[in-house]
Amino acid sequence: MYVDATESAAPADAAAYDCLAVPGLQGWPRLQAQLVDRIKRAALRQLHASAAGERLLLRTYLIGEEATEIALQRDLITQRPDWLVRQMDRHLAEEQQHAQRFAAALAERVPASASSRRGVPHAGMTQGNSPAAQSQPDFLSRRKIATWQRLAHTYAPRFEQGMLVPAFAIGLCAEQMATRVLDRHCSTISTRHTLHPLLSSVLADEARHVRLCSRTLMRLAAPSEQATLAELLEKIRAVDRSWGITSAVAMLLAGCVLRIGSRPA
Ligand SMILES: [Fe+2]
Ligand SMILES: [Fe+2]
Repeated sequence: MYVDATESAAPADAAAYDCLAVPGLQGWPRLQAQLVDRIKRAALRQLHASAAGERLLLRTYLIGEEATEIALQRDLITQRPDWLVRQMDRHLAEEQQHAQRFAAALAERVPASASSRRGVPHAGMTQGNSPAAQSQPDFLSRRKIATWQRLAHTYAPRFEQGMLVPAFAIGLCAEQMATRVLDRHCSTISTRHTLHPLLSSVLADEARHVRLCSRTLMRLAAPSEQATLAELLEKIRAVDRSWGITSAVAMLLAGCVLRIGSRPA
């Protein structure tokens, strides 16, 4: 765990940046979020009912850490001020630790026969038969990341700090999403489950990353840029929501197929 200077240096008018907090939803977006939550809880129960389903969950988290949290910032940010270099390096080191811990948990659960074969196709959200293909996010996640990247390039010229602001806005939303996903997972499984310590520990880190990204954005976006930042955050979150039901149903179907397939003939 690390504490950066940005964690102790709150800006004078922090309340004005309330667009950074996860917004309360109304109407269809609220119903949509409730539906996604219910379907995903059911999907988690299905996925935990088979060893293959549990491996799929761990692989999804591993890819999320490697391809989303780490790659997004590296792809978007090419120049950083000195005060951000150390903070970002330590942040990314923590994300890499998460990836390593998910990889280790996954390796513990891979049957010896499968681990000795290279390029074994696996059911679920990632498809392909090469090690490179297995580290790629699924189709829906790739579409979401591509849309976020287009938004970043569109909005970067509207901020004095350029691409840094959209990159951290996307980072904030990704951390908030990770927190929501892990919180749901921890509350769906028993605290005695073997994966609970790993999931709850990563959850605590991601919650801290949310605070870190929020404080970084308060420092990067000028007060006069708050309305633009709020507009950008709303668009990033809308992209996330637009894939919610589709990805939840895909996750549930994968869980059902893997559970049924794991039954002895
Ligand atoms: Fe992470
Ligand atoms: Fe994180």
